Amino acid sequence: MRLTLGGMVMPAVAIIGAQWGDEGKGKVVDLLAEQAGVVARYGGGDNAGHTLVVNGDKRVVHLVPSGILRPDALNLVGKGVVCKLPVLAQELSLAQALGTTVYADQSAPVILPIHVIIDQAREQCAGVGKIGTTGRGIGPCYEDLTARRRVTLGDLASEDRIRAALAARNFYNERVGLADMLGAERIPSLDETIAFCFSYRNEICPHLKDTASLLRREIETGTNVLFEGAQGGMLDLMHGSYPYVTSSRCGIAGVNASFGAVLLGKVVGVAKAYATRVGEGPFPTELTGEVGERLRETGGEYGATTGRPRRCGWLDLRALRHVIQFEGITHLVLTKLDVLSGFKEIFVCTDYEGVSQYETLNTENLEQAEPTWIKFDGWETNITDCSTFEDLPNVAQFYITAIEGLLGIPVVAIGTGPDRHDMIFRQPIW
Ligand code: IMP
Repeated sequence: MRLTLGGMVMPAVAIIGAQWGDEGKGKVVDLLAEQAGVVARYGGGDNAGHTLVVNGDKRVVHLVPSGILRPDALNLVGKGVVCKLPVLAQELSLAQALGTTVYADQSAPVILPIHVIIDQAREQCAGVGKIGTTGRGIGPCYEDLTARRRVTLGDLASEDRIRAALAARNFYNERVGLADMLGAERIPSLDETIAFCFSYRNEICPHLKDTASLLRREIETGTNVLFEGAQGGMLDLMHGSYPYVTSSRCGIAGVNASFGAVLLGKVVGVAKAYATRVGEGPFPTELTGEVGERLRETGGEYGATTGRPRRCGWLDLRALRHVIQFEGITHLVLTKLDVLSGFKEIFVCTDYEGVSQYETLNTENLEQAEPTWIKFDGWETNITDCSTFEDLPNVAQFYITAIEGLLGIPVVAIGTGPDRHDMIFRQPIW
C-alpha cells in the first residue's frame, strides 16, 4: 500500500518500547499495520511476547511481526532477530494459516539448544549477579554473533553448512566446554544439534530472503514501512540499566542493525500509563505493597512469554525522558490508561533527587534515585467505551496533558482496554 502526504512518499515509522518492555507494542503495531505495506521486526528473539487481542480472542507471537493478522502486509523478520527454530516454524505456519506472507532473513542467527542451556545454567549459578533473564538463550546467541560465529537460518539448507558453521572459530566445542563448566546436565552432542537444526529445513527455508534488500526495494517503490521493536529502551544493551538489560539494541540502532539506514518519519515510543519491569535491576518507582499488587492484577501484569509476575510501579517520566532522548522518540502512545481507573490518587515521578538533570541514567544512579512525585486525582469511571479524548473524564484528560507537558512530546494515542479497538487516536500516525 502506498500512502502519500501531499504527493510525497511517507517515510517509515518505528514503534519502539519506551520503558522496560511489555508496553503493549504488539497492539499498536497490529493497529497501524492496517495501513502498512511492510511490517518489519528488527531485534530480540522469543524473549518477547507480543499480545494481540481481536474480539476477545487472544494470540501471543514471539518472533514474527505483530502485522500477521493483516494479510495485506508483508511481514519481515530482520537479520538482527535471533530465532528459535520451533517457535519460528510454528509462527510461520500460523501466518500461513492466516494468509499472511512472512519472510525471515537468511542471515538471522539460530538460537541453539546449547544457548538455552547456557543461559539457564548461568542464571542458576549467578546468585547475586543474576540478571533474571527469560532463559530463552538470547544472551548466549548474541554473544556468539559478536564472536563472529553463528548458524544462520540459511545454513539450515544442508547438514554440511550447519556442521561448518558449528566448527568455525571453535564454536560448538567452546560452548560445550562452557555448558559443562556451568554444571549443565544434558548437553546435546554436535550431531544431535545438527540433526535438530536440519529437521526444520522444510518448514523454514521456503520463507527465507535477504530481507534488508527486499525492504529497500519496497521503500523505493513507495511502500509504507512499519518497524516493530522488542523489549524497551531501559533494557537496551547500550543505553539501558546495564547489566540488567537484554543483549540487543531495542531502539533505532536495532532498526539499523537489521535493515541499514532508513528515513524514519516518526519514532513512536510506546509506554504504559504506569510502569512495569521483569527480572532483576533497579526500578525507582516500584510499588511493592498493595498498590503494586492492584496494578498487577488489574493490568494482568504477568509475562506473556514466561508467566512471571511483573514488578509494578507508577509512571516514571525521568526514565521515559532518558529513552525519548536516546532513541529520538518523536511521539508517544500511552497504553493501559484503563488500568488506572478506580485509583483515588495517581502518582507520577517527574525526576530523581540526587541525580542531576543532565546525568545519563545507569544502574548506579537508578539504584540511588529518590523519585520526586506529583499527585493527580483519580477517576472512577470505566473508560473502555470512550472513543475520543473528550469522552475521557476531565481528570484523565488532565493526566495526559500534564504528561505531554512534562515530556515535551505529544501523546498521539491512548489505550483504553485490551481489545484491538480499545484505543483513542488523537492524531493520525501515518
Ligand atoms: P533476556 O533478554 O532473556 O536475556 O533477559 C534480560 C532482561 O531483559 C531480563 O530482565 C528480562 O526479564 C528482560 N526482558 C527480556 N525480554 C523482555 C520482554 O519482552 N519484556 C520485558 N522484559 C524482557
